[in-house]
Amino acid sequence: MKKGSAVYDNIRLMLPGPTPVPPSVLQAQALPMINHRGKEFSQLLSEAVEGVKWVYQTKGDVLLLTSSGTGGLESAIVNVLSPGDPVLALVTGEFGERFAKIAETFGASVDRLKSETGKAIETDEVKKQLTQKKYKALLITHNETSTAVMNPIEEIAKAAKERGILVLVDGITSVGVVDLPVDEWGLDIVVSGSQKGFMMPPGLAFVSVSPDAWKAHQEAKMPRFYWDYSRFLLFADKGQTPWTPAISTVYALHRAVELLREEGLENIFARHELLTKMVRAGVRAMGLKLLVEEDRIASRAVTAVFPPDGISPHQLRAKVQEKFGIVLAGGQGGLKDSIFRIGHIGNYRPADILIALAALEVVLREMGYEAHGGVEAAQNLMSPVPA
Ligand SMILES: Cc1ncc(COP(=O)(O)O)c(C=O)c1O
Repeated sequence: MKKGSAVYDNIRLMLPGPTPVPPSVLQAQALPMINHRGKEFSQLLSEAVEGVKWVYQTKGDVLLLTSSGTGGLESAIVNVLSPGDPVLALVTGEFGERFAKIAETFGASVDRLKSETGKAIETDEVKKQLTQKKYKALLITHNETSTAVMNPIEEIAKAAKERGILVLVDGITSVGVVDLPVDEWGLDIVVSGSQKGFMMPPGLAFVSVSPDAWKAHQEAKMPRFYWDYSRFLLFADKGQTPWTPAISTVYALHRAVELLREEGLENIFARHELLTKMVRAGVRAMGLKLLVEEDRIASRAVTAVFPPDGISPHQLRAKVQEKFGIVLAGGQGGLKDSIFRIGHIGNYRPADILIALAALEVVLREMGYEAHGGVEAAQNLMSPVPA
């Protein structure tokens, strides 16, 4: 794409990250560099992290890493586990598998409990598996972005904590999207990333660390240096990070949490719920099939959709982008050639969904599929029309 091309100004991302960034958050990044060992940065970081704690609903520690979400996942593994530790990984898709692989890479002994594609992990299955072995930790992806499934994390975490098992959560597409009270649910480490519910550019990961996780950290022997939480804690007390942080992105975070606070957690969760319902009602009305049929376990961050028979998801996405500038996500792994995904995590409003559904209808019709009624079905959720 040519630099300065109008295409940049006309892109509408509908991805599950990166997602659109509010103008004031973008502007915040343009501020001058400051000394990351100085008092201005210390105040900036402390206020920003307070905001992240508020989103996490925790009074415990939250550490800020200059990293994408995957670095946050790796940090969780290497800080509380030792080589050979038995770990149960709940795998609902590509990201659950990634979490499991990271643990294996560092020498954990990983058992996988997998769900059928498009289905959530069943709590009873987890309970059964937990009786088989004394696991040290359970790895769970709250919102599995590749399949658009939301796992019942509260019940599963409870079952694990009752048995003294650490609960490590990939909350990368659920923090700031759906209710995830970290302290109340006893979650030991919850990882999230800036380019998702936080409505920011990529570049930062956040990790909450519970008292049990700190205890495990004292004994954990996996190799670590850059991610060592002890170093982060030491520096956090001074309002610093151990290594040079992405200062511009911390400015963005500071502004983003102001916006999130203004909206309020309840409203943020309700908005994501509405957007999810609108997308699901819209594509269903067009006669398209959802990968996750059950509303109860539908991700509030992204929706996975099968195109009509005979229409390639790749061509469909390409045409939607060409004609409307709307960027939809493709499938991942084994779902690459069969689904497309509509992201609705972060700074999205109902109007964005109406536009995306309208664009989808136009393009599907051009491709020979009579798509109708999607926009109307979504509109009706906003102001129900009396029967
Ligand atoms: C659930 C989940 N886990 C992990 C990741 C990886 O995050 P990152 O690409 O920021 O490393 C993603 C990214 O989409 C995700 O959705």
